[in-house]
Amino acid sequence: MPLLTNISTLYTCAGPGQGDVGAIADGALAWEGATIRWAGALRDLPAEFRAWPREDAAGGMVIPGLVDCHTHLAFGGWRAGDFERRLRGETYLQIAEAGGGITSTVRATRALTEDALAERAAGFLGEMLALGVTTVEAKSGYGLELDAELRTLRAYRRLAEAGPVRIVPTFLGAHTVPPEFRDRREGYLDLVVREMIPAVARERLAVFCDAFVERSAFSVDEARRVFQAATAAGLVPKLHADQITPGGGAELAAEVGAVSADHLECVSEAGITALARAGVVAVSLPIATLYLGQAPQPSRRLIDAGVPVAVATDFNPGSAPSHHLPLALTLACTMQRLSPAEALQGATRIAARALRLDDRIGSLEPGKQADFAVLDAPDVTHWLYQFRPNACVRTVIGGVTRCTRDPSAHSESRP
Ligand code: NIG
Ligand code: FE
Repeated sequence: MPLLTNISTLYTCAGPGQGDVGAIADGALAWEGATIRWAGALRDLPAEFRAWPREDAAGGMVIPGLVDCHTHLAFGGWRAGDFERRLRGETYLQIAEAGGGITSTVRATRALTEDALAERAAGFLGEMLALGVTTVEAKSGYGLELDAELRTLRAYRRLAEAGPVRIVPTFLGAHTVPPEFRDRREGYLDLVVREMIPAVARERLAVFCDAFVERSAFSVDEARRVFQAATAAGLVPKLHADQITPGGGAELAAEVGAVSADHLECVSEAGITALARAGVVAVSLPIATLYLGQAPQPSRRLIDAGVPVAVATDFNPGSAPSHHLPLALTLACTMQRLSPAEALQGATRIAARALRLDDRIGSLEPGKQADFAVLDAPDVTHWLYQFRPNACVRTVIGGVTRCTRDPSAHSESRP
């Protein structure tokens, strides 16, 4: 029954709006077992919590555990070669069309066993945990054949069971058409719809079904077919939409009742209106935007239209080879003009909503899971302004401290 005090600013992230982070100076947080009992200003602490054993946040700020709601966590190899080719002027789509890109990661991923996939992903998860990340959405999509897709999702299941980071699995069989189906894409879609989706659903290996709607991947009509099958099997749609070229992805997300439409750098005005009407979360992935040298997601226009904007890493070996969610938040401020408070809300409550978990995680309120991070920074603006390798000093999941870092090991941040 600990009570955490000496918190410079406590962010409950419980408000409904994009920037409603509920900042409380000199905060206190009480939890019992895995569940939050109270969050507020120390001076308002109810009598029943006053005698609870105290823990010291050392003047740091406290936020809900960060939720990375879009990653491609398990994959084989890296793609530094693609990075260099893009720097020399080739585009992402040209590299993909020439057999590089996703297809080269598919080759490297198919060569890995379930053990190897899980072990590599566990290494990334450990580093994410140290940054204050407590929940990670993880996509398949580098197998693109039944066995390799199932291996990836089984690796995620194993990581979810091992904990401590919460894993939310997504089936992304419709990531691209694998080379062996290049001349018969209908055949690949048949495989996704008739074999992969039923197998994934039978083993309950995924919550969501994603599809990459893009010139180098799938058309709106093809993705619609995938989502019809997914929905019938009990998987909830999510989309990679309007990333590199505008293609009606946002409109499709609204039509199929997707929980989120992700990327949206090239979203149309009609797409924004459709997302707002359908209550779809827009997920921004500024690390991918940066690495592909694109114009940023029009987040201000989305927010003004009433679309909540989440922020995630898109961690993958091609377009976003970093799992650093605080970096993504700083970039969401500088590139997409989110305020620091809006960015924080985008990686907590709104990200939890993009995973349909906002009834349990993403905010610090009585009854929610005690998932939180203590950061060595006075407030959210300072945290995202002074980008550092890691400002997180303690990560707690379900009321249990899972990672601590020595405050003396990092640089002075207090103004
Ligand atoms: O989200 N856009 C499609 N998928 C990834 C890129 C995957 C890759 O290049 O390996 C993305 O950016
Ligand atoms: Fe992605």
